[in-house]
Amino acid sequence: MHLNRAPDSPFVNPAPSSRPSPQPPVWITPAQFQSFTETGTTAHRLASSPDGWIERLGDDVILSHKNTTALDTLLTGLESWTAESLWRPARIFTRFLPLKNADRISPILHSGNPTLPLTTVVTESGVRYGLDIAAGYSHGLFLDQRANRAKLRSLRPKRLLNTFAYTCSFTVAAALEGAETTSVDLSRKSLDRGKQNFALNDLPTTKHRFIADDTLDLLPTFYSRKERFDAIILDPPTFSRGNNGRRWQIEHDLEDLLNAAIELALPQCAILLSTNCTKLDPITLERRARACAKSKRRTADYIRPTPLIDFPPGHGSTTLWMMLR
Ligand SMILES: C[S@@+](CC[C@H](N)C(=O)[O-])C[C@H]1O[C@@H](n2cnc3c(N)ncnc32)[C@H](O)[C@@H]1O
Repeated sequence: MHLNRAPDSPFVNPAPSSRPSPQPPVWITPAQFQSFTETGTTAHRLASSPDGWIERLGDDVILSHKNTTALDTLLTGLESWTAESLWRPARIFTRFLPLKNADRISPILHSGNPTLPLTTVVTESGVRYGLDIAAGYSHGLFLDQRANRAKLRSLRPKRLLNTFAYTCSFTVAAALEGAETTSVDLSRKSLDRGKQNFALNDLPTTKHRFIADDTLDLLPTFYSRKERFDAIILDPPTFSRGNNGRRWQIEHDLEDLLNAAIELALPQCAILLSTNCTKLDPITLERRARACAKSKRRTADYIRPTPLIDFPPGHGSTTLWMMLR
């Protein structure tokens, strides 16, 4: 892990106090920032702490915070960090992270030109992704999936099934390697943004399907139509309400999803299993995935991705690659 606290951060040496001090943010170094930029990546975290984090998104940053202490700490830290790194964001947005999803709001502009557009384009290893800061709670790219998108590219799949596809970042990664792809998401709007991501990378959408439907209904349909895939992405939300108001919860329904996916898997298929559910730690996820493979009489190797330099342990999703034999 190469994460460092900014040496001049005022939070490195917290003042003595009778109360436990909040854990200080961990910052990437200016050299790591430089390295991201030089390798064509302009979307990554700058800082992480238990109560908030800062994402660099092209020329801008979004500071996400759970409380005002985290907001103030990260804003002051950003001042010190930008002075050292000589990079200054054009705009700083802040985003409150409420306890309840229903209370979520879009980021608000803290500083910078209010007349600039709220859409922007970022790159990841040179691949372009469109973001919409005003779109709501999520801007369009989950930064913690960077290594998994790279891994998918390195596998060079021929037929990808990307379920819970959102803005189709995994689909773009596979399509750039020549894959035929199928992207499934309940949200037509997110899939349309996926198509825009294809256009941003000069990828035609022929050979690519974008299906607005419930993944849990479609997997058995693909099975009965004898559709098979050599890469499958399973990155569902923790809770979902699908067709006919059906409630679904990863913690309880993981096996239904994974078993249905394994049935669509060609030999040598790579299945990515990813979740933000805090009850599914890496060991539990792998144990349950192994049980599914066994029940379907398949064998597999299991790979946990190498941690990202801008995500300290405990930040980002829990992911597992199931490499079927
Ligand atoms: C965590 S995001 C997926 C992120 C995506 N894998 C990525 O890396 O960009 C969850 C997505 O699942 C979609 N979704 C939720 N329930 C669904 C369901 N039952 N069937 C299909 N999509 C669903 C949501 O619309 C949302 O876009």
